[in-house]
Amino acid sequence: GYSAAPFVPEGADLAALRSAAAGCRGCPLHGPATQTVFGSGEASARLVLVGEQPGDQEDRQGRPFVGPAGKVLTRALDEAGIDPDEAYVTNAVKHFKFELVPERGKRRIHKAPNLHELTACRPWLAAELRLIEPEMIVALGATAGKALLGSSFRVSRQRGMLLPCPDLDGYQSSGDCVVATIHPSAVLRADDRESVYQGLVSDLRVVARALG
Ligand code: URA
Repeated sequence: GYSAAPFVPEGADLAALRSAAAGCRGCPLHGPATQTVFGSGEASARLVLVGEQPGDQEDRQGRPFVGPAGKVLTRALDEAGIDPDEAYVTNAVKHFKFELVPERGKRRIHKAPNLHELTACRPWLAAELRLIEPEMIVALGATAGKALLGSSFRVSRQRGMLLPCPDLDGYQSSGDCVVATIHPSAVLRADDRESVYQGLVSDLRVVARALG
């Protein structure tokens, strides 16, 4: 199957991982995408936030969560008492997967990554976690939850609670260190934006409390 593993250098620091990831050909998503969008933040971060995949803006700018979903995320972190600048932010899949919609002026519409793409890209996420060894990991949405906790993960059932640290591709840690919540873009799609947003904030408060 597809895998990024052959592209992940051993003994690399975050900067070396980032430049290696720029040349990843571990799955077909690198073809249509503009660039790899690797994680952003410090190796010393106590908190890692994991999204799904870069969106249109992220694909163009090369940084995670710089578009509309990122604005929601930053505001929610702030409101929950977490400094957004102290978190390392990344995605389960590091290339933008999209469909061109000709009748909408060739707009690039986000498509959810499948299990093959999720599995292929996981060595990058595992390598980031091995280097950072965060105290807490936040799974933003179902895709991030599945990447971290396996395909039986369900946001609706598992959000807002402390979950056991995952064991993925050589990353291991003990105790409870994962909190899952909705994806911030779900706030933008919701009819009742305010209550969906407050749900996101309340899940992030669980993270803030755990970090102390
Ligand atoms: N949505 C994500 O999951 N990640 C990003 O980086 C941007 C939007």
